[in-house]
Amino acid sequence: MNKTLIKGGRIVTAVDDYVGDILLENGRVEAIGRSLKVPDAEVHDASGQLIIPGGVDVHVHMETPMGNGVETCDTFETGTKSAAFGGTTTILDFAQQFKGESPKAALDRRLASAEPQCCIDYGFHSILTDVSKSALSELPDLVNNDGVSSVKLYMAYPDVLMVDDADIYRTMRKLGDHGGMVNLHAENGVIIQALIEEALAQGNTSPKYHQLTRPQLMEGEATHRVIRIAELAEVPVYIVHLSAKEALDAVVEARDRGVSAFAETCPHYLFLDNSEYDRPGFDSARFVMTPPLRDRECQGALWRGLKFDDLQIVSTDHCPFCFNEKAHGILKSKQLGKDDFSKIPNGAPGVEFRLPLLFDGGVRAGRINLNRFVQLVSTAPAKMFGMFPRKGTIAVGSDADIVLFDPEEKHTLGANTHHSNVDYSMFEGREVTGKVKKVFSRGRLIVNGDQWLGRAGMGQYLKRGASGRIL
Ligand code: URP
Ligand code: ZN
Repeated sequence: MNKTLIKGGRIVTAVDDYVGDILLENGRVEAIGRSLKVPDAEVHDASGQLIIPGGVDVHVHMETPMGNGVETCDTFETGTKSAAFGGTTTILDFAQQFKGESPKAALDRRLASAEPQCCIDYGFHSILTDVSKSALSELPDLVNNDGVSSVKLYMAYPDVLMVDDADIYRTMRKLGDHGGMVNLHAENGVIIQALIEEALAQGNTSPKYHQLTRPQLMEGEATHRVIRIAELAEVPVYIVHLSAKEALDAVVEARDRGVSAFAETCPHYLFLDNSEYDRPGFDSARFVMTPPLRDRECQGALWRGLKFDDLQIVSTDHCPFCFNEKAHGILKSKQLGKDDFSKIPNGAPGVEFRLPLLFDGGVRAGRINLNRFVQLVSTAPAKMFGMFPRKGTIAVGSDADIVLFDPEEKHTLGANTHHSNVDYSMFEGREVTGKVKKVFSRGRLIVNGDQWLGRAGMGQYLKRGASGRIL
């Protein structure tokens, strides 16, 4: 049977909100209506539940090598299963070019790992670490033939990932002509490196120095700088994991002048703050991600940015490393930096909790409305990165990626219940209201309560259209 009828739920998209039935057939939404009758369909009663489009998380790092054998602890299989349990049906991960490598070879390497493992649909941004003439010459093909219309560049991590301003400009020019967009990790990497060296020279090695050496001002400076470079190149620009109000100020100022500057933030910046670094001993290493958690004033600014569309997307930057060495070995663990904060692998988990957190702390708390919630977690990411209307909405002809969400069910977030390989959660013990109950991926039921019905390799690679062309 490939017909599924979801009956009597409250259908919410970025613009709609009504009660109805949805017929899923051959992986697509076939019909939407009232009192639909389809005798040979499998029926799911959705009364009392929200029916929303599957979440689209455009910033995750599954089985990602960080150099010297260090790697994130979720495989494509475990990471996408965890995403699905959290109501996310599409991810964009990264194909990182090693120095000297062809970007296309990097993509092929990642595709070979992802294809047999992904349980939900997936695509890739490219990452360039070596902006050579030959790498640049491959970009048009990457956009037009491989569907990779976004390239991430780092303004941080000198000698490892960082590229200079001229290379950012060159990449923007090349991509811009072909419907591509550059995504930036915007922090002033060389100043931060100097601060790290200063801290270590003074014997300051504990995790809280991760935060103290990555000041908000230096995120603001890099964000302002790169938006100006994009203006010169006359292309749209997208800031990843924006955390500081100084960076948001730069985005707001540019947008007010009509510049196509876009940005995402992440749940940890909305719900946690830098007091986590006051935890005793090494415990606060759990919160070592980049940029670090910021002060309470930034949280307020970020919520305002989400409300007024100065921030367009909430993604997770799921970049999991276990806290303990035991679970998956030292190379996938925070313990690498026990004696030196600068060696703690940067990144934190969260792919499973984006929807419940934003629903509970956003919609229920009265900060955003339901349509805006769907816009932030599904529609805007799909539009921003060339997947709409196949993804990001519930409409006739769209992929049948559908989530049934109980807006009243309470549950507690934590490592005991999530499906990721990681051994901790930054939100351990937090009670939220609103739970993912059923998830359909292209019409197939993959999550049914606590039951997993998906399988590795079910996910399809998404060749994306143009990025950054939303106005
Ligand atoms: O801490 C983070 N965000 N890790 C992923 C790599 C990066 O900085 O983007
Ligand atoms: Zn980053």
